[in-house]
Amino acid sequence: MSDLFGISKIILDTDPGGDDIFAFFWLQSLVKQGHLELVAITTAEGNVSAKKTFASASQILKLGGLPDVEIGRGVLIKGDPAEDAAHIHGSDGMGNLSTTLPKPLDDYETARYSDDIIIDKLNAMPGEIILVAIAPLTNLAAAEEKSPGILKKAKQIVVMGGAFLCPGNVTPHAEFNIWFNSAAAKTVFDSRDDLVVMPLDVTRHLIFTREMADTIVQTNSDGEVAKFMQNLCGFMIQTALTYRETEGIEGFLVHDAATIGYLFYPETLTFCRANVHVETQGEWTRGQALIDRRKRVKRPANAWVALHVDRVGFFTSFVEDLKTLIR
Ligand code: BDR
Ligand code: CA
Repeated sequence: MSDLFGISKIILDTDPGGDDIFAFFWLQSLVKQGHLELVAITTAEGNVSAKKTFASASQILKLGGLPDVEIGRGVLIKGDPAEDAAHIHGSDGMGNLSTTLPKPLDDYETARYSDDIIIDKLNAMPGEIILVAIAPLTNLAAAEEKSPGILKKAKQIVVMGGAFLCPGNVTPHAEFNIWFNSAAAKTVFDSRDDLVVMPLDVTRHLIFTREMADTIVQTNSDGEVAKFMQNLCGFMIQTALTYRETEGIEGFLVHDAATIGYLFYPETLTFCRANVHVETQGEWTRGQALIDRRKRVKRPANAWVALHVDRVGFFTSFVEDLKTLIR
């Protein structure tokens, strides 16, 4: 990709999270291979608190060899926070492994807010930056509210979120990233007509297994990244089995990595053009993301929604790329 089309510039909006960390590792491996430039990491409140997601982003950047990328602190949600996902990802969001890594180098108290970084970078490089959003959409919505029209300055926005033709993972209808701050999700879906969406419809098929992890780490199993990866994988497998996310298979869902798969291996995904509507009010359906599949004239589409993934193709690339981070 880099040779033919130039280097991709990416801002990763993330709330690490075990699957965020694997998406992060994939990005870092692609930076190492010269395929992209990581412009900034904007952390968000979600899987765990804003302070914790900031700290783990700092630790993972260092672990993967990119300590100089700016990290933003998450915009806090007004009102009572929704229940986080520490029961899935560990109390620190990283499988309770944060104490096994060197302390974060970056300072949360003095860091810029994530929405300010998004505004600043998009204004500085209009049409050049891809926003990869793998967290609740609080930061992106805050940027749009502060500077209306700013999200249109992104080259592309790729979101992990929603559950369209399958059950949700927080409620029967809602997926975590959309549910956690559904008002923010609505703002982002209303901001442009070409959002790329990676919902549970595809990510529930992305079971990353222990065998795949073993294949990745075997070239340098004593290395710091390899050891951390194996331990995190072990933790995530346990919670995935507890919450019956993988049909009993020893693995866990790398939801967030689907965004990276789309950007660098787009042939592994099939999309449907649709109008995505976010339910912000419903008593039973708040946080649901809907598309209208009736055979009727539709409202204008605002998104490309992935509905099918070539799992084998996806994991072949994922595993081979992650090996380059281990060496
Ligand atoms: C999404 O929710 C979070 O828990 C994961 O990190 C992912 O972004 C999956 O529904
Ligand atoms: Ca996430």
